[in-house]
Amino acid sequence: MCGIIGINSNKPVSGTIINSLKKLEYRGYDSAGIATLSSGQINEVKSEGRVDNLEKNSLVQNMNGTIGIGHVRWATHGLPNSINAHPHSSQNVSVVHNGIIENSTLLKKFLVGKGHKFKSQTDTEVIVHLITENLKTEDIVNSIKKTLKALHGSFALGIIFKDHPDLIIGARRGSPLAVGYGPNENYLGSDSYALKSMTNKITYLNDGEFCVIKKDHVEFFDEEGVKVNKKVLELSSEEKKYDKGDYKHFMAKEIEEQPTTLKNGIKEYLDNSNNDINIYNFPWKVNEISSITLIGCGTAYHSCLMAKYWFEELTSLDVNIDIASEFRYRKNRFKSDTLYVFVSQSGETADTYAALDLCNRNNMKTCSVVNVIESSIARDSKFVLPIHCGTEIGVASTKAFVGQMLILYILALKLGLMRKDIEKEIFLEKLKDLKKLPELVKETLLTDNKIQTISSTFNEAKGSMFLGRGFSYPIALEGALKLKELSYIHAEGYPAGEMKHGPLALIEEGMPVVVLAPRDNYYKKTISNMQEVIARGAKVLLITNKSKDEIVSENIWETIEVETANDDLLPFLLTIPLQKLAYYSALKKGYDIDKPRNLAKSVTVE
Ligand code: F6R
Repeated sequence: MCGIIGINSNKPVSGTIINSLKKLEYRGYDSAGIATLSSGQINEVKSEGRVDNLEKNSLVQNMNGTIGIGHVRWATHGLPNSINAHPHSSQNVSVVHNGIIENSTLLKKFLVGKGHKFKSQTDTEVIVHLITENLKTEDIVNSIKKTLKALHGSFALGIIFKDHPDLIIGARRGSPLAVGYGPNENYLGSDSYALKSMTNKITYLNDGEFCVIKKDHVEFFDEEGVKVNKKVLELSSEEKKYDKGDYKHFMAKEIEEQPTTLKNGIKEYLDNSNNDINIYNFPWKVNEISSITLIGCGTAYHSCLMAKYWFEELTSLDVNIDIASEFRYRKNRFKSDTLYVFVSQSGETADTYAALDLCNRNNMKTCSVVNVIESSIARDSKFVLPIHCGTEIGVASTKAFVGQMLILYILALKLGLMRKDIEKEIFLEKLKDLKKLPELVKETLLTDNKIQTISSTFNEAKGSMFLGRGFSYPIALEGALKLKELSYIHAEGYPAGEMKHGPLALIEEGMPVVVLAPRDNYYKKTISNMQEVIARGAKVLLITNKSKDEIVSENIWETIEVETANDDLLPFLLTIPLQKLAYYSALKKGYDIDKPRNLAKSVTVE
């Protein structure tokens, strides 16, 4: 969470670092900073808030130096102000850090005892002083090795040195880090997105590795300081460029891209000539799997919850779902006939990665559904199902959610067929329906104007609720999450049938309540639950699908009708108006839609 950039060049670097930091802002945006080496010393400039503030600082505009590091911060230790902003520097060393140093208090005590003076409240500053201390007795590689060994926790680091003006050190444990290669210059970045505008040649550091970046070459070392050879990967040209185009926000663009996301996913996994699903090289036989556990965080967890309904419907597998931050610390009963599926857009979420790692260490069957295929989760799972939805920049996940659901649905269908849990005819019928989905999503995206008007009522309310049953319940949770993270409005998702067991007490006159009631098996029951909230004064926004049957209920405040599809696919369509509701509500409030407060895109800390 926090973004890192480093450039070693023969041209001045501050402008390029600032531009790269702007690209990295989705990882953290409460403060930013830059340090370069010039005239034999480390110069550091930091600002609270966005990179724009840093850029306007006259000190940055006059910054020289052909080697430098930059950082955007998502605060963990210490307030988000300019003192706690990175880089943190001593006279000799300057450090940018992503992650958390768990033994920082102990290390600080030791370093204060040695006479080191601390300026900030951060855990990162101990790294600066520890390297400074170790450099008194060790050469550069050994001082880094010794420092990293003393650190507990997770980190990606970029480091420059007053006395070694020709190099940048990068180091990784837990948090991702990449090296990029350019003409007479080389780069360090916390992900390939930041480096893409400069190069398409990338190397990812593995856990425990560190590197020495010079202008003309890069050397990699394992945690023992032994040199390792690494592959240079070439990013596709499509991956190199991703911008907002004519859209006001990435989120708006990403919502509109969803028909394409679905089309691409379907194209990748559906074998039209054989009317089948291609899950190439699935490494296990179906009779080796009798249960499935799906694990993720936030929106990705909601797609796991959605998948539970599909897997139960289409297969006879036992299905469990888990929130990664809970799974990783529980006493799990690992079973060799369970398929563990890790769902993540970024593929770098620390909790999801730790859950995967735990399963790998217990020799389990691990599979991931990820968007970033070069990510740690993708690289370390035994089988990967890429989402293929392209770069997602908006912090609130939209197209990746739809992409995750698609892949999980496809997997459920395929396993259902392979296990003979569903008949071939049903499978073929469902494939046929699935092919129509992108077009149906495209049509549903047209319900714009009404949602813009409706969003004002949500903005005026103290709080809101999102209700659904069955297939619509995970979507209710996702709708509530989108509204709260973008508009900062209290929003809760509930199974509609649970309301009477407590939450109904929250309903008061005029409270906006979204009821998801498509015409599926749960329709009548959900409509009864809707009447219970209307009777208590709620302003109900009913979201259902188009049908010739009239809705038999009075006093519904507003109704939105999405397109019609088979029951399995309705969740995709119900998602669209909820994404738009959150978007317009935040737009009207004037909030920063692509970068909601306190959040970051890639959560690489626990
Ligand atoms: C919410 C959102 C987050 C992420 C969560 C997991 O809109 O985007 O809840 O879903 O942080 O991230 P990934 O999918 O990258 O593991």
